[in-house]
Amino acid sequence: MGSLKNQEEELEPVVEEAILYVNGIRKTLADGLAHMTLLEYLRDIGLTGTKLGCGEGGCGACTVMVSHYDKNLKKCMHYAINACLAPLYSVEGMHVITVEGVGNRRHGLHPIQESLAQSHGSQCGFCTPGFIMSMYALLRSCQTPPSEELIEECLAGNLCRCTGYRPIVDAFRVFAKTNDVLYTDSSLSLQGGDSICPSTGKPCSCGSSLSDRDTNKQSVTCGDRYEPVSYSEVDGSRYTDKELIFPPELLLRKSTYLKLSGFGGLKWYRPLRLQQVLELKMKYSDAKLLVGNTEVGIEMRLKRMQYKVLISITHVPELNVLSVKDDGLEIGSAVKLSELLNFLRRIVKERGVDETYSCKAFIEQLKWFAGTQIKNVASVGGNICTASPISDLNPLWMAAGAKFQIINCKGNIRTVLAENFFLGYRKVDLTQGEILLSVFLPWTRSFEFVKEFKQAHRRDDDIALVNAGMRVHLEEKGGKWVISDASIVYGGVAPLSLSALKTKEFLIGKCWNQELLQDALKILQKDIIINEDAPGGMVEFRKSLTLSFFFKFFLWVSHQMDGKKSVESIGLSHLSAIQSFHRPPVIGSQDYEVIKHGTAVGSPEVHLSARLQVTGEAEYTDDVPIPPSGLHAALILSRKAHARILSIDDSEAKASPGFAGIFLAKDVPGDNKIGPVVVDEELFATEFVTCVGQVIGVVVGDTHENAKLAARKVHIDYEELPAILSIQDAINAKSFHPNTEKCLGKGNVDLCFQSGQCDKILEGEVQVGGQEHFYLEPNSSLIWTMDCGNEVHMISSTQAPQKHQKYIAHVLDLPMSKVVCKTKRIGGGFGGKETRSAFLAAAASVPSYLLNRPVKITLDRDIDMMITGQRHSFLGKYKVGFTNEGKVLALDLEIYNNAGNSMDLSLAVLERAMFHSDNVYEIPNMRIVGRVCFTNYPSNTAFRGFGGPQGMIIAENWIQRIAVELKKSPEEIKEINFQGEGSVLHYGQQLLHCTLSQVWNELKISCDFLNARKEVNQFNVNNRWRKRGIAIVPNKFGISFTAKFMNQAGALVHVYTDGTVLVTHGGVEMGQGLHTKVAQIAASAFNIPLSSVFISETSTDKVPNSSPTAASASSDIYGSAVLDACEQIKARMAPIASEHNFDSFAKLANACYMARIDLSAHGFYITPELDFDWKTGKGNPFKYYTYGAAFAEVEIDTLTGDFHTRAANVILDLGYSLNPAIDVGQIEGAFIQGLGWVALEELKWGDAAHKWIPPGCLYTCGPGSYKIPSMNDVPFKFNVSLLKGHPNVKAIHSSKAVGEPPFFLASAVFFAIKDAITAARAEVGCNDWFPLDNPATPERIRMACLDEFTAPFISSDFHPKLSV
Ligand SMILES: Cc1cc2nc3c(=O)[nH]c(=O)nc-3n(C[C@H](O)[C@H](O)[C@H](O)COP(=O)(O)OP(=O)(O)OC[C@H]3O[C@@H](n4cnc5c(N)ncnc54)[C@H](O)[C@@H]3O)c2cc1C
Ligand code: FES
Ligand code: FES
Repeated sequence: MGSLKNQEEELEPVVEEAILYVNGIRKTLADGLAHMTLLEYLRDIGLTGTKLGCGEGGCGACTVMVSHYDKNLKKCMHYAINACLAPLYSVEGMHVITVEGVGNRRHGLHPIQESLAQSHGSQCGFCTPGFIMSMYALLRSCQTPPSEELIEECLAGNLCRCTGYRPIVDAFRVFAKTNDVLYTDSSLSLQGGDSICPSTGKPCSCGSSLSDRDTNKQSVTCGDRYEPVSYSEVDGSRYTDKELIFPPELLLRKSTYLKLSGFGGLKWYRPLRLQQVLELKMKYSDAKLLVGNTEVGIEMRLKRMQYKVLISITHVPELNVLSVKDDGLEIGSAVKLSELLNFLRRIVKERGVDETYSCKAFIEQLKWFAGTQIKNVASVGGNICTASPISDLNPLWMAAGAKFQIINCKGNIRTVLAENFFLGYRKVDLTQGEILLSVFLPWTRSFEFVKEFKQAHRRDDDIALVNAGMRVHLEEKGGKWVISDASIVYGGVAPLSLSALKTKEFLIGKCWNQELLQDALKILQKDIIINEDAPGGMVEFRKSLTLSFFFKFFLWVSHQMDGKKSVESIGLSHLSAIQSFHRPPVIGSQDYEVIKHGTAVGSPEVHLSARLQVTGEAEYTDDVPIPPSGLHAALILSRKAHARILSIDDSEAKASPGFAGIFLAKDVPGDNKIGPVVVDEELFATEFVTCVGQVIGVVVGDTHENAKLAARKVHIDYEELPAILSIQDAINAKSFHPNTEKCLGKGNVDLCFQSGQCDKILEGEVQVGGQEHFYLEPNSSLIWTMDCGNEVHMISSTQAPQKHQKYIAHVLDLPMSKVVCKTKRIGGGFGGKETRSAFLAAAASVPSYLLNRPVKITLDRDIDMMITGQRHSFLGKYKVGFTNEGKVLALDLEIYNNAGNSMDLSLAVLERAMFHSDNVYEIPNMRIVGRVCFTNYPSNTAFRGFGGPQGMIIAENWIQRIAVELKKSPEEIKEINFQGEGSVLHYGQQLLHCTLSQVWNELKISCDFLNARKEVNQFNVNNRWRKRGIAIVPNKFGISFTAKFMNQAGALVHVYTDGTVLVTHGGVEMGQGLHTKVAQIAASAFNIPLSSVFISETSTDKVPNSSPTAASASSDIYGSAVLDACEQIKARMAPIASEHNFDSFAKLANACYMARIDLSAHGFYITPELDFDWKTGKGNPFKYYTYGAAFAEVEIDTLTGDFHTRAANVILDLGYSLNPAIDVGQIEGAFIQGLGWVALEELKWGDAAHKWIPPGCLYTCGPGSYKIPSMNDVPFKFNVSLLKGHPNVKAIHSSKAVGEPPFFLASAVFFAIKDAITAARAEVGCNDWFPLDNPATPERIRMACLDEFTAPFISSDFHPKLSV
């Protein structure tokens, strides 16, 4: 044991005032705010550009840049952090720059903002400030232009649900230094010139021109790199005068010791010396040390753990050491992970290869560790001392033979081997008075190899399912290479990082050869035991991974030793097991023709709010300041899946700080029964609860936190009742929603099966998982009364303001005429804010109305995910008969969807699934029966595609199965069954203007399908452990609401005397560019520039009785309604216009005004030709169809299930696009969202398959556990094209609807994965068809790739569990 010399002369702390600079402005930080996050503070002071998306560091919406002066390095350090996890006081003495400080419309946009806006990189805009800040921090921190790889890496912690990332990458890559020639000022001069890319609105090297004024039609391909703004302009003269400088006061200011307090008696210390830390630890033995707060913050906020004393050790130099010793590296416990990463990268360059195997392993592991914002604050010591069983670094410290230096309050130091430090679940060898001082990482010796492993759901920014650190030291003895030392450590297999001790023991002394491998695998199997009911589930997968990792390690070490005597070299095809993943920068192309109609229609205009969104000036519901008398609402939620409510005790809640009221069913002034179609829900549960998360009441308090605290204190006694927790449970119990059995059909299925016409008949089941909307903006409403409750007004984040109006009138017993709902924009909806937002606003309206005070409700991310419903999971049971050629003759299909505990839109979702169950295939005899299952889950709801994708993926499953059965390619089976012009579908609609064959043929040419197949086959022959797969998938998507009455739209158009036009219509802007397209229609109608048209908001008092913005049809119907209004006004203006030759629209408008002409009109539109009748099952539910097709190529790692999409080509027929740039954005966004559905996003519910989750509870209720695609998941090559030359005669300006149709096309990725798995199974002689559930996650991929590492744990028909 050593001892720390007390070399500090002066330890008495000097506490000065706490300060902070925000966007260059000095702020004094009051005492008492230790509980507050930086995000809360910023939003409280009005800087609402920084968004709250998740509150757990998982989405990046809250990213800000922090700068501080490093006295040692003598320079300012700039880095991005998540403001939602940063304690306010952690940035004391620093400069925080938010999106508002970067640039704005008044003083000019920063080039990053300009570039993102112009590149169509902002749709709903909720993620946008976060992306801007991550990129800004990167540019400010780089000495030289960053590489494209670095840019993509720095965005790993930012999620976007709308764009599909490609335009964001394109917007930011212009700041990368890739080619010196491009870094000239001339690139900027392009901005006004000819080479503006119509896709991006930016200069590009595609050589195409948008401004060909003579022709109205042109074709454009923008696939090459374009460089609209040069890096030097960002860092140089053009912008430096605007760039916020580091405040001089902070340059000179000494860091001070802080002693501050927070809510509930919380104490906050920031010592400056180790001795001070130790003294504080002596005084408060249970004090929590804090560095990044990325663990403690989650514990306190999400797990509700309470700590009384927090000691921030970020400023303690002794804990921030990074030094090179003779025998290794000393790393202080407070060193940030990004500092460690940079340090190790430098060391690897400077030191010999042999010495740095451990360093390289850490570098690789840190590459896939969290996002940049987390790594910028999270510490080495924080990761170690949390002792998480899935820590990515702890297995490596253990395997690498690291030693931990521990110091106690008296300054005594002891050293513990990392492998002895972890004692149990989150338990380490530290007594109360001890802290971790530093870590010592030894150099590796000659022939000592260290390697890291990690498999997660998603490669980027995800916690591990299983990870590992492995080390062997080989010595040559008697001409053989013998293992002299070894360490094999796993994470994710036990409550702590676990050493495989028996395996280690076995290895030592053995020769490094194949025999050793086989024997070691056998021992390892017994060494690492994972119990069947282990938390996290996926037991078979995790067990297989332990063997796969070891196998990889064996091959990797053998490869390092290649050429050494007596070491068997590994075959070339086996090298595929150890190739590390390298991601090239994304390349995208967008191919479309621009067909302009008038001044604006057809032009690839930038989203009208883009400039507001990139500057953070765009306001969302939660950004609207709550009036001084306002209250915050929190919901009282059921904790049981099915139960009788015995009693509700609110006494503790009433005594809670800031409590202002509790409201239950008995308090509802109007009707407590609600429901969007069928009234089968209760606003507040009365006697029974039928799902976890059902609303029982609402509590209001002075702050959001206090309201939540009080709501948690409401105690409810339940009598538990049996719950139905899956579709299968529902089928067994015949638990269906009343009157929901539906049937469609044509021909005679039974007769066909009996007739012997079918050469083969197959039966099977398809399980399709659900999907969370994960709109970046959680649900929010602000409600207030006027005239003491005579009127109620609200601002809501909803796709259906009219539903909010109706619900609130209903529960408050008010006429709808006295209730107004407004929506300016929403941060994504995707169907999730169509009906499942209304009951939240209705709940909050009760206290607002009864107390006559404004009430705001904003859901936390976990609650939002838990209670607002998702995409329905489906079960399909099919029987399909076909000829030996593959011609389908009969299909008998039963489909079930999981509706949850109320009907909501589930019947309509089922119906659309039934309509789309043929996808694009001619089936002469077809019968579909559909049923809506009642289960004890929150009600599932609309989600992009609205059941269509589920119906189509079931169809693609049996098509693929027929192909396998007949040993033909799926493409061949598809083609011989294609529908075409004149086909009559199973519900009687005839296909007219069918462009299926055109999109299909163009796609096959563009992806060079036959060659792609050859190349993939060749790759698969040469690579045993990596396989590639390809697939090509077509679809048709019916456009219209299937409920006929909903196909109506209203609009209100005012022309002002200055010639500007204000449009209001019933549709909501949620990022999809609806307002932009509608404004383009109005501009063209009046022949005025787009800039003369403005759309302010959607409001029920301007346009009444609107349908929700859904079903892809909004631009069709609202565009038509607006056009109707414009035409009315134009007709009134015509006589005046014909009298004079006005040289401007303003003059004409003014002349009309002077002539007392009404310049305002209400427009209306109904979709004609819809006449479907469920009684006969025949008619035309759709106005027309949007056709598309997609190709995908993937590569899988058969040993781990890891996959990436190498290429995706998508083609869609959108007629003459109203705005091709926006349409491309919709296609890319839908495709990536669809990719999430088919391959990444898995909802895990507490059901029979997941016994480790409490019954009926959602486990995956945040970005930490539920993984939507990140930037890393974008196909390496992502090509999108619009079919040319096919105007749509059925919709406005010959356009077609786009929102939903492309979503399903991502199933090409699913079938490409299946194709790759098929190749892997062929290696072990399994050539039969096999089922693969949706989503094809790494678990499903890996477990389907049967081999010697899965064999010990599963049989060949193993089916990983899925909540459906
Ligand atoms: C979005 C997100 C993604 C993440 N991804 C990953 C990932 O990919 N892999 C992974 O392994 N982890 C991940 N984590 C977990 C977490 O970020 C890491 O464990 C991180 O290193 C914790 O460091 P911190 O400084 O933030 O810890 P803090 O929250 O500040 O502290 C954590 C714990 O360590 C204790 N502690 C800190 N320093 C000392 C010391 N010197 N002596 C004694 N005790 C000490 C604290 O008291 C506290 O109990 C993730 C977390 C988030 C929020
Ligand atoms: S809100 Fe901070 S990361 Fe999501
Ligand atoms: S634009 Fe990124 S989440 Fe909507």
